[in-house]
Amino acid sequence: MNFTLSSKAVSSSKADCVVVAVPEQGDWPESTQQVDEALGGLLKQLVKSGDISGRNATTLMIPVSGQPWPRVLVVGSGKDADRNPTNYRKALIAAVGQLKDGAAGNVLLALADSATTGDDQTSSEAGRLSLIGRTLEDQLYTFHDYKSEKPKPRKLKKVTVSASATTKALKSAFELGLATGRGMNFTRDLGNTPPNICHPTWLAKQAEKLAKDFGNIKTEILDEKEMKKLGMNTLLSVAAGSKQPARLIVMEYRGGKAKDKPHVLVGKGITFDSGGISLKPGEGMDEMKYDMGGSASVFGAMRVLAETQPKINVVAVIAAAENMPDGGATRPGDIVTSMSGQTVEILNTDAEGRLVLCDALTYVKRFDPETVIDLATLTGACIIALGNHATGLLSNDDALANELLASGERACDRAWRLPLWDEYQAQLDSNFADMQNIGGRPAGTITAACFLSRFTKEYRWAHLDIAGTAWHSGKAKGSSGRPVPLLVDYLMSHAG
Ligand code: BES
Ligand code: MN
Ligand code: ZN
Repeated sequence: MNFTLSSKAVSSSKADCVVVAVPEQGDWPESTQQVDEALGGLLKQLVKSGDISGRNATTLMIPVSGQPWPRVLVVGSGKDADRNPTNYRKALIAAVGQLKDGAAGNVLLALADSATTGDDQTSSEAGRLSLIGRTLEDQLYTFHDYKSEKPKPRKLKKVTVSASATTKALKSAFELGLATGRGMNFTRDLGNTPPNICHPTWLAKQAEKLAKDFGNIKTEILDEKEMKKLGMNTLLSVAAGSKQPARLIVMEYRGGKAKDKPHVLVGKGITFDSGGISLKPGEGMDEMKYDMGGSASVFGAMRVLAETQPKINVVAVIAAAENMPDGGATRPGDIVTSMSGQTVEILNTDAEGRLVLCDALTYVKRFDPETVIDLATLTGACIIALGNHATGLLSNDDALANELLASGERACDRAWRLPLWDEYQAQLDSNFADMQNIGGRPAGTITAACFLSRFTKEYRWAHLDIAGTAWHSGKAKGSSGRPVPLLVDYLMSHAG
């Protein structure tokens, strides 16, 4: 697929289809006016007749003749007051949905001049171009590596995005959007890969491959022996019941100054979560292949950095293990000593994410981090609390939490903060060890974060629980690529 930016007038650009926006009220964008003029007022007529409502994300494909484009796709862009990044993206998704299996091979997309109100990402042309780039990439994603019959190739080959100018700033905004989409798609490939292929050693290979492909990422892979030496016993206790050995995967992107402290990303990389001895019920267990979704989003963000090369230092650490119930498996009741020296009574082997993360969070102290963000499909309780729309955010630092919330808003990849009050900590009291690994049914997402907070006291830290957002269940079952856009927005806002 070929994506480019062009500032040529829409009325004189050749394409198989031109895409323009019609709002529900108010002035029409410049490109829509041009198209309407060329068509002798056809679009206005269609509004009058009620064929075009302008309602956000509605579409109408109109065959036309005597124009440089034989089709016009009209996309509703809604009312002024409702215009926000989420609705703008909805309209883009509807447009790409019409185009992706359509007859046009070469499309001219003129949606970046669609007027917006408010003070958000879509109120600047650069912001809109970035969102367009990302949406093009992420909506055209397919995954059929494991189907014997491949789908027919798409007719759509080229999308030219119309912009007011092709300045460096607009180009790089568009490129960042495209790179973000590709990062998301990398995340989705990893998340969709079946767990008999995607195990910790395979994940480590993907890091080495990423490093090789881009040449600006350094990797280091720690095996079980090296982790044992460091005292990473809680991490290792999760892998104890699996034939697949655990791995700690470190990737470093250093685009900033040597003295700039790195932003550290930590990903939960459970390549399959059977629950261990505290075995999960069978229904839907296949979806626990995406329990490495946190690490997949870290991979996606690293890919975006590698491609766009911002001036920032970022270290990624992935705690990869498979949670299985063989004869060597950790038992409920076992007590293990974490790398931090704190002891943990494991009452439920299905609360394994926090066990791999806590050692990784102790490990990252060596990087003297500016901030640490961990990403994890950590609790089913987060899906109960927030559903599939918002990522759960918990943090020991208000400024960091607010930045991440703002990044989520800007990137249409929202998070919602939950409290991390001391009152909740008592739910982790153990009769036999420094803490237990579960806090009972009340506030499951919060007590999981409370557990992690005992290992993150020495730096500014935020935890993103992506159990609800990293995966689509139901018909469109598969990895979503979230929260790569949120992470990219956050990291780019710190780049020099
Ligand atoms: N990976 C799961 C959480 C999860 C559940 C993610 C459903 C996505 C969808 C995690 O390891 C887990 O099993 N958590 C337990 C914790 C409980 C035992 C305290 C849970 O949420 O039930
Ligand atoms: Mn589990
Ligand atoms: Zn899990």
